[in-house]
Amino acid sequence: MNASNFTCLITAGPTREYVDPVRFFSNASSGKMGYALASAAVERGWSVDLVSGPVCLAPPSGVSFHPVVTAAEMESACRQLFPACDLLVMCAAVADYRPVSPAKRKIKKKDESLVIHLEPTVDIAKALATEKRHQLCVGFAAETDHVETHARRKLRQKNLDWIVANDVSSPEIGMEADQNRVTLFSVTGESRSFGPAPKSDVADFILGAIMGAAPRG
Ligand code: C5P
Repeated sequence: MNASNFTCLITAGPTREYVDPVRFFSNASSGKMGYALASAAVERGWSVDLVSGPVCLAPPSGVSFHPVVTAAEMESACRQLFPACDLLVMCAAVADYRPVSPAKRKIKKKDESLVIHLEPTVDIAKALATEKRHQLCVGFAAETDHVETHARRKLRQKNLDWIVANDVSSPEIGMEADQNRVTLFSVTGESRSFGPAPKSDVADFILGAIMGAAPRG
């Protein structure tokens, strides 16, 4: 296979899970790592689908851009694109829970406490990786403690080929930072570390490491 018909599906950014029309649960993901991966993949000459939650970044030129808001929308976009991709990189910080019954109108402030029932979202990485055929599936594990233990567990539980672990306890290399430090673990027992370095360099390292002699344009 040459680089131009190698297809990569990358997810990026947070999702928003609405409580009412103006309020939502989300997280601090900036999308920078996912967008850097998309740019690095385009530079390799690959065909890139970028499925992104709401972020303040312009999509890198050369990608097919699929903006989404909620985890359910991200799941639906990914399910459509996954069968034709060769590499899935789930970099998005998908919400793990969403409100069971979002209010149709803005919730009014009251003096008593407010209880919001949450239900788990679909684990997109796990669902897709469980159905994989030829695809290489890569997930991310943003951890604040016991990084390797949690990352290796997610690698197995989600049926992934690689997991990119990063320690988000430090603001210099956290979700909104311009730098990142990562350790990659493979299902075959390999591990590779890189950084701290700009996210563009980290992105190139990740693609090189997981693809070995990856096709380049
Ligand atoms: O279990 P945890 O959310 O920490 O795992 C992170 C990995 O799983 C990331 O690759 C993320 O994109 C993916 N994920 C997902 N669907 C979810 C939650 C996480 O694909 N609902």
